Amino acid sequence: MLVLRYHDQTKHHFDRFARSRGYLDWATQPDPFRRYIGAPTIELLRDALADTVPYEALFDGSAEPAPVSERSIGEFLRCSVGLSAWKQYGASRWALRVNPSSGNLHPTETYLIRDGRVYHYVVREHALEERCAFDASGEEEEAFLVALTSIHWREAWKYGERAFRYCQHDAGHAIGALRLAAALLGWRLALMPRWSDAQLSTLLGLDRDQDYTGAEREEPECLAIVAAQDPSRWLERDPSPLAEAASRGSWRGTANRLSADHAEWPIIDEVSVATRYPGRSMCDGATVRGAAVRVGSAMVQGSTVQGSTVQAARSVAPSHPRTHARSVILARRSALAFDGRGVLERNAFFSMLHRLRPPAPPWDAIDWLPQVHLVLFVHRVQELVPGVYAYLRDDAARAEWQAAMRQEFLWEPLKANDPNDPNGLFLLVPIDCRRLANRLSCDQEIAEDGFFSLAMVARLEASLRERGEWFYRRLFWECGLIGQVLYLDAEAAGARATGIGCFYDDPVHEMLGLTGHAWQSLYHFSMGVPVEDTRLTSEPGYAWEQVAGPGSR
Ligand SMILES: Cc1cc2nc3c(=O)[nH]c(=O)nc-3n(C[C@H](O)[C@H](O)[C@H](O)COP(=O)(O)O)c2cc1C
Repeated sequence: MLVLRYHDQTKHHFDRFARSRGYLDWATQPDPFRRYIGAPTIELLRDALADTVPYEALFDGSAEPAPVSERSIGEFLRCSVGLSAWKQYGASRWALRVNPSSGNLHPTETYLIRDGRVYHYVVREHALEERCAFDASGEEEEAFLVALTSIHWREAWKYGERAFRYCQHDAGHAIGALRLAAALLGWRLALMPRWSDAQLSTLLGLDRDQDYTGAEREEPECLAIVAAQDPSRWLERDPSPLAEAASRGSWRGTANRLSADHAEWPIIDEVSVATRYPGRSMCDGATVRGAAVRVGSAMVQGSTVQGSTVQAARSVAPSHPRTHARSVILARRSALAFDGRGVLERNAFFSMLHRLRPPAPPWDAIDWLPQVHLVLFVHRVQELVPGVYAYLRDDAARAEWQAAMRQEFLWEPLKANDPNDPNGLFLLVPIDCRRLANRLSCDQEIAEDGFFSLAMVARLEASLRERGEWFYRRLFWECGLIGQVLYLDAEAAGARATGIGCFYDDPVHEMLGLTGHAWQSLYHFSMGVPVEDTRLTSEPGYAWEQVAGPGSR
């Protein structure tokens, strides 16, 4: 399988990183903002509609549904893929967004399809560019479509061949951001399983060569329906009439060129083609388990900590938790460093784990069962022995995963103190794993200094063989969704998180005893009490928002 070749070729090793230029070529730094020059621009409304919705409503579906209108769609995009801040250090000024991105390079573009129009979201201005007007007879008004694409070059400029992985993580984060912004407005959102990537290209005009002369192309990722009610009746609709109507529509605008020059990474083009989604009629979406796995034999490095728990006396607690969903969403940031004394409350930790299991949002946006489970490096969680833990996001995966892992792991189920404690958490080895976590995550201190860090370990080869190579992208999306929930939960708890795309792949597998391609770590993550970089100055994402307004920090 080409994807497995791509995956192996883009691993980081202790003595060698995946292929990239190895330096930042500032002369070709990509423009972070795509525009379609000549397309009419429509300003979106700026009202904060949902600033009293409680944080829990994102996950329990209790927000009162807002009418689908220009106002609410403005709020939806602002709270999912809009700008969250402008940062400045010396002469450098850069924007941050509500959705995170590896290296802040933001390869993901967003489109909206509604009332016979295809719009591109202009992030910087919080506006829509009207790309296409088409005959939309029979379309209903109480729902709309939202689509994501990736511009691989934005990530490849810095990360070379590994960039395709990061584009997929980022798409997953963006799906999570869209799903939870929909929940903020009392809406549902679900990916449309019947749309092939080729049909999505036609709908979005990505296959219109004449609109991309000299400009970087966009790769289709996904299309989702957003509705105030149960979206199931839209999911099975035949995509062809809408795709054909768009292809016959009236198109405007040509894509801006993002870089003066480009480095070529042919393996990214190859893996993009190999992982294009053929649409559900041509592939089987069923979830099957039971792949054969082998067991490794290397030793775990680190010092054993028998029975010790975190000492509260020398700890630093998170700051005040946030209670409103909108302010949590807009405040989400990556920590640059953690205070190594931060301690997370046991209950907060458990409720975070609980949210990573279906069926609550954002898990209702996707139509496959969990294929990604967690290996946690727990450093400082109240009343929890530091150590390496496994967290199953689906109990049924235990036998297959346990058989694949190092046989000496304890698999000691965590004793529930409370009926709300989650199932699925197992102590594998009580150990001070701070150095281990740091080393495995490309020697990054954020993996060591937080409450915990983790590896997202995917059931890789079997899930690809069962479905097709296209599922490779979706495994990364699942990781991005996990990361997005944890990012928000960290903010809500008064703490902060950071995604970790840089880790030494096979040393992680060796530590866990995993061999072959059956299980592979796809993404790492960390959470703790942030240490702010006071040298940076901050302005709101949009000039009309007050510095002291909701979400600004
Ligand atoms: C997929 C992904 C991988 C990332 N990898 C790392 C990493 O290895 N190290 C790190 O310090 N930050 C990492 N980050 C954090 C990004 O640098 C951060 O999201 C970006 O700078 C934007 O900042 P913001 O999250 O505050 O909006 C990663 C983020 C994502 C989404």
